[in-house]
Amino acid sequence: MQIFIDSAKLEEIKEAYNAGILDGVTTNPSLIKKAVEEIKKRGDGIDMEDYIKEILKTAHNARVSLEVTEYIYDKMVEQGRKLFKMFNPAAKNVYIKIPANPSFEGEKGKEFDGLRAIKTLSQEGIPVNCTLVFTPEQALLAAKAGAKIVSPFAGRIDDYLRTKNNIAFDKSDYYPADGKNDLNDNGIVSGIDLVRQIAEIFKKHSIEAEVLAASIRNTRQAREAALAGADIATLPFEVIKELLAHYKTREGMRSFTDDAIPEYVNLTKGRN
Ligand code: G3P
Repeated sequence: MQIFIDSAKLEEIKEAYNAGILDGVTTNPSLIKKAVEEIKKRGDGIDMEDYIKEILKTAHNARVSLEVTEYIYDKMVEQGRKLFKMFNPAAKNVYIKIPANPSFEGEKGKEFDGLRAIKTLSQEGIPVNCTLVFTPEQALLAAKAGAKIVSPFAGRIDDYLRTKNNIAFDKSDYYPADGKNDLNDNGIVSGIDLVRQIAEIFKKHSIEAEVLAASIRNTRQAREAALAGADIATLPFEVIKELLAHYKTREGMRSFTDDAIPEYVNLTKGRN
């Protein structure tokens, strides 16, 4: 499974990339807002175009998703084309994020705008990551329209199930994907179950689009995304760091370091 970082913070992207394990970056307008607010809070200014180019160059050889903010077909296509033209030359690694269904509640007649935008941009050779996927059906249609990546939002399905059933939770709380609970959203029992069902459908029907497990909030969910067959998981920086954490690793490090005798440590000192 490929690992992407779900962040627009340059320092986080740099650190994860320098660790040598990063396959990509996902951003969205909320993540960009967070990153920019932090920069402004420090009293620094920002040139958005340069900043995004810096992200792209930092993550060269890794795929970077940039999301449209428009939600009407013509405008999404126009913005998608412009973003791609403006930023893809920096490191040839841009994917354009288009929502599965950009219509807001109660709004009729816009349901297909996302699919149409995916189709148009894909036909023009612009790789699309279909975002805000909450059902296997949305994933199937997005792939059919030409999306190269589909992004089920696992954590937000878990939020939805728990909120609907008056279960108190913190955003990072692990929510089991074991199917033993009787909560479900039209047959989806958890965010990881959504990822699994999409991965199974794609496998069964030889659909080439990659399944990117998004909205992952903790390490156990990241592991389950891998087991569920996700091609990619995009993880917040904190979760990426947590992947390496274990009490016994820390304890072992402490005792090995304490036990290191000079005869052994000095073996390699002063030698080439
Ligand atoms: O990749 C999608 C992600 O940014 C949403 O995450 O935690 O806000 O649901 P979250």
